[in-house]
Amino acid sequence: MVLERLRLDGPPRKVAIITGGSRGLGKAMAISLAEAGAEICIASRTVAQLESAAAEIKSHSGRDVLTVPTDVQQSAQMDALIERTVAHFGRLDIMVNNAGIGDRRGAGSTIYDLEDADWNDTISVNLYSTFYGARAAARQFRKQGPGGVILNVASGTALRGNPTGFAYGAAKAGVIALTKSLAAMLAGEEIRANSIVPGFLAQAPARNAEEVEMRAQRGRFNTARRLGEAWEMGPLAVYLCSDASSYVTGESFVIDGGGLAGGVAPTGFTPVVEASNA
Ligand SMILES: NC(=O)c1ccc[n+]([C@@H]2O[C@H](COP(=O)([O-])OP(=O)(O)OC[C@H]3O[C@@H](n4cnc5c(N)ncnc54)[C@H](OP(=O)(O)O)[C@@H]3O)[C@@H](O)[C@H]2O)c1
Repeated sequence: MVLERLRLDGPPRKVAIITGGSRGLGKAMAISLAEAGAEICIASRTVAQLESAAAEIKSHSGRDVLTVPTDVQQSAQMDALIERTVAHFGRLDIMVNNAGIGDRRGAGSTIYDLEDADWNDTISVNLYSTFYGARAAARQFRKQGPGGVILNVASGTALRGNPTGFAYGAAKAGVIALTKSLAAMLAGEEIRANSIVPGFLAQAPARNAEEVEMRAQRGRFNTARRLGEAWEMGPLAVYLCSDASSYVTGESFVIDGGGLAGGVAPTGFTPVVEASNA
């Protein structure tokens, strides 16, 4: 029974969009949602990565994956993403607003030197995109009748200060606040909204021994004594997108190996350690 509630294969089979599903945590969540039975649409800017991720997701589920090249900063493109998905699959049930970028460092990232353009870009990709995606999905959910799930991806940086950047954390704190209001506003239509708050999760398997060593060194400071891996987002995403979490809305779920609980570093902030310092 409990495993039945985690299934996304209906009937009708749930339809999920994952922005930033072409790599990293988004691709990992897309694979898990597909394995749980959902039809998948992934959206990001780089077409070649979308295509290779679609093939990988299909290898896990056996079903074709829709790819829609999209810049999440453009609200018209987000509206078009929902339209394309509904035209293809006939409905939308799950909107995962995952695409994001870290603090831009080109023009500096301290309060003394961060340029307007970099501040705007970081807020836009991480926060505006979540609003555009949630709004477009909610409009579609309302057309379909009751039900729908919005899952946003924030960051532990939203919950603590970061000495080497602040636009990203500010944007992600906005994502958490937006999620709570979405939940309150949309509950009457049985639409749930939650956010996942990742700590450090490796986006892909380590490519060489140096990367393995660097991750081990950084993980040493975390409560779990390691960094997370992308696949570990998947089960949480399936839970939050499925009927298993039917009484859960407006919440933020931290997945950080106990990082915010406080690891060896007192704040749970994991320092960047060069492999050569091992
Ligand atoms: N990995 C972590 O440890 C960690 C920790 C906390 C929070 N997060 C959050 O988790 C989410 C995924 O991060 P990740 O680590 O998997 O990053 P990633 O590997 O760099 O993937 C980012 C994804 O977002 C897409 N993207 C970026 N800008 C976009 C835009 N303007 N329009 C459309 N798509 C865009 C990228 O594709 P294109 O560049 O091709 O568009 C890619 O698919 C982000 O929101 C990130 O802030 C990650």
